[in-house]
Formats: sequence, structure tokens, C-alpha cells
Amino acid sequence: MSSPFILLNYKTYIQGTGQGAVEIAKACKAVSEESGIEIAVAPQLPDIYRVASEVELPVFSQHLDGIGAGSFTGHVFGKCVKEAGAVGTLINHSERRLTLAEIEASLKAAKEFGLRAVICTNNVPTTAAAAALEPDYVAIEPPELIGSGIPVSKADPEVVSGSVEAVAKINPDVKVLCGAGISKGEDLRAALDLGSQGVLLASGIVKAADPKAALEDLIRLV
Ligand code: G3P
Repeated sequence: MSSPFILLNYKTYIQGTGQGAVEIAKACKAVSEESGIEIAVAPQLPDIYRVASEVELPVFSQHLDGIGAGSFTGHVFGKCVKEAGAVGTLINHSERRLTLAEIEASLKAAKEFGLRAVICTNNVPTTAAAAALEPDYVAIEPPELIGSGIPVSKADPEVVSGSVEAVAKINPDVKVLCGAGISKGEDLRAALDLGSQGVLLASGIVKAADPKAALEDLIRLV
């Protein structure tokens, strides 16, 4: 099995804001180098440039709008995200839901600017629909488990394995991540055993007293 992909979403947690965003990215880089596992971070948008400039690791945007250059005040433009140093973006996170048309437009913008796209979903049917759009990844995250500390890979293994099966039928090139409540080595191990290729996670690492130690625990059973 290939090495998993770990994507750490900082959300708007205070620990991952401003200089904290850089410090957590440094912990991710250290663990990534020690383990050979790809770890990427998704800080808040104004922190993308700061993190990407100071730490050499993949940086993702937490959101992208399907717009171009011009009269789009307050929107997130793919070219700007790319030039800030991001290599990818989340689309349709549970805390930043979009319409189907908007998801398609955001994905198109991500592709136009060479950004890896992770479409977030909440159940097997939406995962299947997202896979049909051909993103790089879909990330299945049942909203009720997000931030709960109860890992999706243990509390709802069927939604992970069902998503993996659905995506394999629709487009085997699309990789499946899972997320919600993932924080421990056993949670990541269970996610990989269910067929996912990595995890999207947040609170268990960003809010940990020692994010580097929390990351080391996360990957210990890979
Ligand atoms: O984007 C990751 C996320 O929604 C899961 O959050 O805190 O349950 O790891 P958490």
C-alpha cells in the first residue's frame, strides 16, 4: 500500500492562527521528514503566504471560489491562492458548504491554476457525485462526528468503506480521504484498513498541547 496523505485543516482555531500557523506547519514538516509521509496543512487564507514562505511543505487553501479576475469583491481567486504559495484547496468543507454548481466551478478554477482539489462530502451518495466531477481527492466527513473526538473510521466504518467502493466504481483515479474525530494512531490505521488513502483532520492535532507529539502518535501504526 502506498504511503498515506495527511491533510491538517487549521479551521479558525486560535492555535493555528498567525504565527501559530507557522509553528504547527514546522511540526508537520519535522514529522513528515522523519516518517516519509506526506503531510499538508490548510491554514486560514491570510496565513497561506506566511506559512508557504517560511515552511517547505504543501499548503492548501480552506476554500476556493469558482470565479476569475475582475469584479468579485470578497471572493477567493485561484490565481491569488496559487501565487500565495498554495498547491491545493479544500472545496465544499462541511463548514463552508457550496451548491453543486459552485463545487463544479471551484473545481474548474482549481484545475485552471494547477491546484490539487479535495472535495469534501458527507455521505456515500455525495461522495459518488463528487468523484464523478474528477477531483484529485474526495474527503468523506460525517458532520456529526466533526470535532467530536469520536473517529469516523471506528464509529461509522461503513461510510468510509462505502465511499471507497463507490469511488472505485466511478473513477479509480480519485483518491479517498476520510475525516472527523481522527486523532490517534488507531484511528488512522482503521481508516487505511477501510481502504482510504489518508485523512483530513483538525482538532486532535491543532488543539493538542504538543502538536508534534500528537502527529507522531497519529502515524505510529502506518
Ligand atoms: O477538515 C477536518 C475536519 O472537519 C475534521 O475535524 O476536528 O474532527 O478532526 P476534526
